[in-house]
Amino acid sequence: MSLAIVHSRAQLGIQAVPVTIEVHLTNGPLSLSIVGLPETAVKESKDRVRSALLMAKFEFPVKRFTINLAPADLPKEGGRFDLAIALGILAASGQIPGESLPEYEFIGELALSGELRPVRGVLPVALAARDAGRRLVVPLDNAAEGAMVKAAQVFAARHLLDVCAHLQGQTRLTRCLPAINAGAAALAAYPDLQDVRGQHQAKRALEVAAAGGHNLLFMGPPGTGKTMLASRLPGILPPMSERESLETAAIASIASNGFDPNRWGQRPFRAPHHTASGVALVGGGNQPRPGEISLAHHGVLFLDELPEYSRQVLEVLREPLESGHITISRAAQQALFPANFQLIAAMNPCPCGYLGDVSGRCHCTAEQVQRYRARVSGPLLDRIDLQVEVPNLPRAQRHSEEPRETSAQMRERVARARAVQLQRCNTSNSALSNSEIERFCRLAAADEKLLDTAIERLGLSARAWHRILKVARTIADLAGSTEIQTAHLSEAIGYRRLERKA
Ligand SMILES: Nc1ncnc2c1ncn2[C@@H]1O[C@H](COP(=O)(O)OP(=O)(O)O)[C@@H](O)[C@H]1O
Ligand SMILES: [Mg+2]
Ligand SMILES: [Zn+2]
Repeated sequence: MSLAIVHSRAQLGIQAVPVTIEVHLTNGPLSLSIVGLPETAVKESKDRVRSALLMAKFEFPVKRFTINLAPADLPKEGGRFDLAIALGILAASGQIPGESLPEYEFIGELALSGELRPVRGVLPVALAARDAGRRLVVPLDNAAEGAMVKAAQVFAARHLLDVCAHLQGQTRLTRCLPAINAGAAALAAYPDLQDVRGQHQAKRALEVAAAGGHNLLFMGPPGTGKTMLASRLPGILPPMSERESLETAAIASIASNGFDPNRWGQRPFRAPHHTASGVALVGGGNQPRPGEISLAHHGVLFLDELPEYSRQVLEVLREPLESGHITISRAAQQALFPANFQLIAAMNPCPCGYLGDVSGRCHCTAEQVQRYRARVSGPLLDRIDLQVEVPNLPRAQRHSEEPRETSAQMRERVARARAVQLQRCNTSNSALSNSEIERFCRLAAADEKLLDTAIERLGLSARAWHRILKVARTIADLAGSTEIQTAHLSEAIGYRRLERKA
């Protein structure tokens, strides 16, 4: 055979798009040219592949090799195609059989010795290969990740020679199977609510937020438990579905740190510091990488000290908060990353943090307080449905040994309320459409008036009307009520109080 075709995949956003590697061999002086890759990637890949083939004691016939990576207009990172290129050369020059190659996809970088090095984004590749009905060969270090995809036929190899032995029908590669206990640690991973004393109102808001997927803001002086409470949200959220787990894992898989199979099924909790760059937060770069908002997909994004984040960064959050994804444009390409996160934020009431404290230690002027709060723009606050104060604990509660509720107890109520929502509209209340709101969040006439008055009195936007109804729906669901009652609506309105003050 003088022409070999090998399948692999490039990465575009969280998509693993097909790439075909065609190797053509003709007579002529020895030369190796790769087309369809950027310059530097070509050179590096060529050197690695050549060295790996020689180290593995294959021949490098004195011929002309033309290697085409198609489609050419796709941005490609070099390393992940090494294995496919090497196999193409071997098949085209008759050193391994090429017949079974079409049944496979290959991904992996070669070390100069011929060993296979792990690459990013194996999970999306395994998903796509499965859907294309092909087997997938990955580096051993990526095996656990590839195995997370149910019904995918993933084989792990340590060395180029192992792959060749497999294709020659000698020693077969072993198929990767998921670790039996993957995900068992999912819930144990989060701190428990039981640790938090008092703060009943904040805990209630946390429960409502978890049940309906609503965004939440805690405001209070330092040391009252805001960070403690926020970090306990993922531990009370409903368990992840298979699809959610896959999507979350796929994003981690293409990020710099990769996917840790031990975190399968765990809702992510991301807490980027307020000094984080825009790219770190929303994603970007030459080879676009997901940012914190995508790493928080199906989980929680915690922004502590909310007013300290740059205005620009907070503005960028608005689009994904509405749409659940972010589009990153680089040159001619657009990468779409999912970013369906639940936002939880914390802030102090004033620059010094102690406004309203009994000690009277706050000397912030009204103007300073106003300027501080105005850093969180109205449109962002508008999208935070639950705003609660987390005050200093009264002395009695600080030392009380009354038994406190565990995360497991609250999680049970949350799961029940969420199940009702999924059955009703196949989504959490936070994502209800306007027509669904009209259908499922009806109010009695008197309650409509109550809501009207509240919106006028608090000076809320028109959007707030719908958003308050969604929260009221969640509160009714937690109470097991098909109707939204006055008490449910009043509680929902109560969560908007800070907006007016701010
Ligand atoms: N409500 C509380 N229950 C138990 N411990 C608390 C509470 N509030 C604060 N603490 C203690 O104070 C520390 C700081 O709390 P933290 O959540 O960081 O406060 P904040 O984020 O409001 O500044 C915690 O690590 C914990 O030891
Ligand atoms: Mg804190
Ligand atoms: Zn102050």
